[in-house]
Amino acid sequence: MELGAWPGGWLQRLASLVGPGGRVVGLDLREIDEMGPPVELIQADFTLPETLTRLHAALGGPADLVLSDAAPKLTGVVHVDRAMCEELYDAALVVALRVLKPEGRLILKGFPGPEAQQFRLQLRPYFSRIREVRPEGKRATSKEFYWVAMGYRPPADGVDQ
Ligand SMILES: C[S@@+](CC[C@H](N)C(=O)[O-])C[C@H]1O[C@@H](n2cnc3c(N)ncnc32)[C@H](O)[C@@H]1O
Repeated sequence: MELGAWPGGWLQRLASLVGPGGRVVGLDLREIDEMGPPVELIQADFTLPETLTRLHAALGGPADLVLSDAAPKLTGVVHVDRAMCEELYDAALVVALRVLKPEGRLILKGFPGPEAQQFRLQLRPYFSRIREVRPEGKRATSKEFYWVAMGYRPPADGVDQ
């Protein structure tokens, strides 16, 4: 599953990785052009709790991977931008905790800042390994990175639905 998937570049790659027998769900605020199976599309805001119901329905079962490439519309006002990044991180983690299968993976775009360091601490209880990677080919000026969190460990007392 990909959160923040418009215009769909990564969805195409995911579709070729899973093949015709797999399923890929792509979600964005913006409308994504239809791709056909195995890609299912949802136009929604994943920070809203009701979006989870639609995600569950589209997935049809637990997911191997939650990928979030979501990026907020930055305002240039530091505390506003930080709050928006934080909201996207938290919402992506909520989705991951509810849809991932045990040992599943979360790959999540991050932006440097104190809230990113805080967020990494929030990931730790749920994943056995967490790395930060900066993909090759990113613009030299780009500060974005990705958390790659592997080995999902669902909480022993369950996740609130
Ligand atoms: C960098 S683009 C994604 C590019 C995409 N991964 C690709 O390969 O084509 C970031 C996307 O995040 C989406 N986004 C930001 N906040 C969102 C939210 N709360 N819910 C859904 N999508 C969101 C934006 O609409 C934008 O299309």
